[in-house]
Amino acid sequence: MIYTRISGTGSYLPDKVLTNQDLEKLVDTSDQWIRERTGISTRHVAAEDQTTVDLAEYASQRALEAAGRDAQDIDLIIVATTTPDRVFPSTACLLQKRLDRHGCAAFDVQAVCTGFVYALSVADKFIRTGSARCALVVGAETLTRLLDWNDRSTCVLFGDGAGAVVVEASEEPGILSTHLHADGAYENLLSVKGGISQGYDSLRDGNGYVTMKGNEVFKVAVNTLGRIVDETLEANNLEQSDIDWLIPHQANIRIIQATAKKLRMSMDHVVVTVGEHGNTSAASVPLALDVAVRDGRIQRGETLLMEAFGGGFTWGSILLKY
Ligand code: UT7
Repeated sequence: MIYTRISGTGSYLPDKVLTNQDLEKLVDTSDQWIRERTGISTRHVAAEDQTTVDLAEYASQRALEAAGRDAQDIDLIIVATTTPDRVFPSTACLLQKRLDRHGCAAFDVQAVCTGFVYALSVADKFIRTGSARCALVVGAETLTRLLDWNDRSTCVLFGDGAGAVVVEASEEPGILSTHLHADGAYENLLSVKGGISQGYDSLRDGNGYVTMKGNEVFKVAVNTLGRIVDETLEANNLEQSDIDWLIPHQANIRIIQATAKKLRMSMDHVVVTVGEHGNTSAASVPLALDVAVRDGRIQRGETLLMEAFGGGFTWGSILLKY
């Protein structure tokens, strides 16, 4: 049996840090409100001349180094992003060029905050079916470029960053199961209303920015993530206590705590980066994973549960042996 195993992780955060106090100067908000309602204290913002592929490249190089691999070993590149550099080519093709890797398949996946979970699930199918042996899977975002800095209901929530993993075919267990879902009926609760196909004018008058009905999204997110935890455990015949680490999407500490409670898991076994990173959309799960791998919390052989929820709505989970 062929499994997909993570052989290396990497991440990158831009240098510029935006604090809650900085945001107090932009909109009618307070450090206290942001920390109490979201758990966020700071977030990173890409430099003016930095784009998504720059962030993806740094994270990828770190993941390749950690895996002991060269870009030439990679036979599949998938980038999950909502903030591509260009309409086309895909950010994955731009990353491929940066890595000087020619010829292997490269494409983007768009599932907003669930993007990395979708992308890693796709890579898993390629590897299990023998279509790829060594894949680079990246979640990278410059989400702050989609923010209206006058809208306090969204501009305090998001940040920029990138996370990457190298995954390889292995006889030892790695990814045990993946679970992907979507329901487009919720398109309007969290979205950017404009888009290329509607014409450039559709992006004017605030329609090129993120809009969200926060508390409605919150309720669906908590319920949906609770259900996907059950689905994942049942599919693997596991109990809550079999999970060593929860690596959740980092949107809001209160959503993360609700999922941990569902797993009857102490917060000591939940990787939380939302306080320092904010919500980095598709980058949040691989960023959190890399932080906990590099600081030594996550050890080889442990059982990890990744989950995410985002615009679409999309949601998904991955259970794996690290
Ligand atoms: O990553 C993709 C998925 N996204 C999510 O999962 C996000 C889900 N939603 C959330 O995390 C939360 O709903 C938010 C953090 C966005 C908002 O927290 P909330 O506790 O649901 O607050 P609310 O939207 O119900 O707003 C409560 C009050 C409102 O004032 P009134 O109507 O009670 O007077 C808002 O206008 O807080 C006000 N408010 C703010 N006040 C200070 C909204 N944003 C701010 C702000 N600073 N930045």
